[in-house]
Amino acid sequence: MSIILDTLDTLNAQHELPNALHFAAGPGEFPIAHMRSEHAEATVSVYGGHVLSFTPKGKQPVLWVSNLAEYREGKAIRGGIPVIWPWFGPSSSPDLPSHGFARNQFWSIESSRLQDDNTPVLELVLKDNASSQKLWPHSFTLKVVITLTNCLKVELISTNTGSSAVTCTGALHTYFNISAIENVKISGLDEGQYLDQLTGDDTLIQAGPIHFEAETDRIYFNSSADCILHDSGFDRRVLVEKRGSQSTVVWNPWIDKAKRMGDFGDEEYKQMVCIETANAGTDVITLEPGESHTLTTCISVLDGDN
Ligand code: BG6
Repeated sequence: MSIILDTLDTLNAQHELPNALHFAAGPGEFPIAHMRSEHAEATVSVYGGHVLSFTPKGKQPVLWVSNLAEYREGKAIRGGIPVIWPWFGPSSSPDLPSHGFARNQFWSIESSRLQDDNTPVLELVLKDNASSQKLWPHSFTLKVVITLTNCLKVELISTNTGSSAVTCTGALHTYFNISAIENVKISGLDEGQYLDQLTGDDTLIQAGPIHFEAETDRIYFNSSADCILHDSGFDRRVLVEKRGSQSTVVWNPWIDKAKRMGDFGDEEYKQMVCIETANAGTDVITLEPGESHTLTTCISVLDGDN
């Protein structure tokens, strides 16, 4: 029997939930959890602890994944919800991977269960290991807990299992599927101060909703606000609620950067925007030994774009 079939048999034997959770092979032979509730479906890759899709019944997919996404060890999957941790953005050392290592490792399934209302809950875990210790010499447990009701709740729980304090940043780097870039705007960040990562200017203040007409790469500070992605083409609003986060990142690579990225189609910048529930920039988390921090995003869809 191949390794993947063996793995799938074991995962299903231990964690399958009839009609609600099943493991099957995905692209790159990555094991993928298929979750289903009476309201929605979702898929989650064991590689990266990475949500790949979320589709409420009868609706357009909420998450976007590139047609050029690569599914191989050592490479992050372009789309869905990559787990960015334990640092957001480039590291101070050029040898270290941008956006940390959590999205580039195989995670383990910790547990699966049905809540009383038949909502499936899946918990994945990543612990420090030889490869993580080389990149970040700290002991930790990182969990992703995915709860699928009519909204998708994703909790990222970092615990310091070492004997001295650690600091970390991170994000649930959510790629949203949109009808067309000219049809969308983001509300919720009005009057917020932000860092424009393209110019380094951190004194800018948001005026009104965000529209996309050029490359956009911003960290909004001191912001615990929920956001709404309005999409007139899909006639819907996607509500992005959050907790444990004082920063939100908004990103669209636009034309030139899209062309520079090997795992991103030249025209795909028109089909996605990222709204990242983050601990980024000055929003640094300090964990004393034994302490945990939970970063949560809850994503739901409302009819009508206004
Ligand atoms: C965003 C950053 O969070 O992620 C951007 O703000 C970056 O600067 C983007 O380009 C994608 O990063 P990566 O490492 O997945 O290509």
